[in-house]
Amino acid sequence: MKENEKFVGIIGLGTCVPDTVVTNKDLEKRVDTSDEWIVERTGIKERRIAEPGIATSDLATAAARKALADAGVSADEIDLIIVATATPDMFFPSVACLVQDNLKASKAAAFDLGAGCSGFVYGVVTGTQFIKSGLYKKVLVIGAETLSRILDWTDRNTCVLFGDGAGAVVLGEVADGCGVLGAHLGAEGAGGDLLKLPGGGSRNPSSPETIEGRMHYVHMNGNEVFKFATKIMGEAALEALKNANLTAADVDVLVPHQANIRIIQSAAKRLKMPMDKVIVNVDKYGNTSAASIPIALEEAVRTGRVKKDHVVVLVGFGAGLTWAACVIKWCKEDNTIA
Ligand code: ACO
Repeated sequence: MKENEKFVGIIGLGTCVPDTVVTNKDLEKRVDTSDEWIVERTGIKERRIAEPGIATSDLATAAARKALADAGVSADEIDLIIVATATPDMFFPSVACLVQDNLKASKAAAFDLGAGCSGFVYGVVTGTQFIKSGLYKKVLVIGAETLSRILDWTDRNTCVLFGDGAGAVVLGEVADGCGVLGAHLGAEGAGGDLLKLPGGGSRNPSSPETIEGRMHYVHMNGNEVFKFATKIMGEAALEALKNANLTAADVDVLVPHQANIRIIQSAAKRLKMPMDKVIVNVDKYGNTSAASIPIALEEAVRTGRVKKDHVVVLVGFGAGLTWAACVIKWCKEDNTIA
């Protein structure tokens, strides 16, 4: 431990998922697929889809309010809001600024962070640095998505995989030896073409042609993303553990990005970790991108799977390509989430 080192951890959590459940059976009516195929190849049984009129900032704000209540922190104590998202309400203002206004967190700086599904862990690691440096005391990190708005609902290769939701955490100073102990962030821009939304940006501004070419939807090479994910999840977790001077044997709970049960199983295998230490809720929510890890973490804390003094590893991968892992010593006393 370095002299005057600050330890930074999660002091509050909250989530918000839309009420509307879309099952695999529902999707059988839209595209040529089957419940059996989706469950066997992905582990997904159902997902939540935001009702018309609900945008990413609405889910983000609701999750943030719960996280603040859980932390016992008021909005005006927040110094910085980071929202990890690939599905902002609009190009600008950022979702973080919309949330800042909704919460009346008037003294908070605010920005969005784009790292695909790795975004929430990127956000936790970024927010931690601001507190460690002494610049800020309390940081709100939110992963929030409405992927349903950028899916091609006629493309069975992608539309069955994703869902909407948000998860938020409040970061603050914690007891010595607790909180974020190590991290590893990475990117491989050369793989960017494997998962992208090509239309509507400065490369291909929105036009009748981009609409006709369905360029405003998610385009994905599922097989290649799958291969990348199975390789990187375990490696990223091991790098973060090395950075924390720990090994996989020290881990009590793994909270992986919820994209596909087979990817999660391969990460667990790489870490030689039994599945009973691994949090899985992809069956209920599908892949909620940047929201998946905080949603899974909140569930794990609320249900007592994560307990005081546990070593918890968060690990994700996503568009970019990106990956991110962090190791947290869980020292939050009260596991009851407001
Ligand atoms: N229902 C039925 N058949 C389907 C479906 C579907 N929903 N989707 C694809 N198929 C078909 C394909 O067309 C293909 O048929 P063909 O052989 O006649 O061409 C067949 O199933 C096999 O397709 P594969 O792509 O080989 O299936 P695979 O076992 O690889 O599973 C999947 C596909 C689930 C997409 C897998 O590759 C995967 O999970 N990839 C990773 C995706 C991912 O995690 N993306 C998110 C990244 S994170 C982020 O930033 C958002």
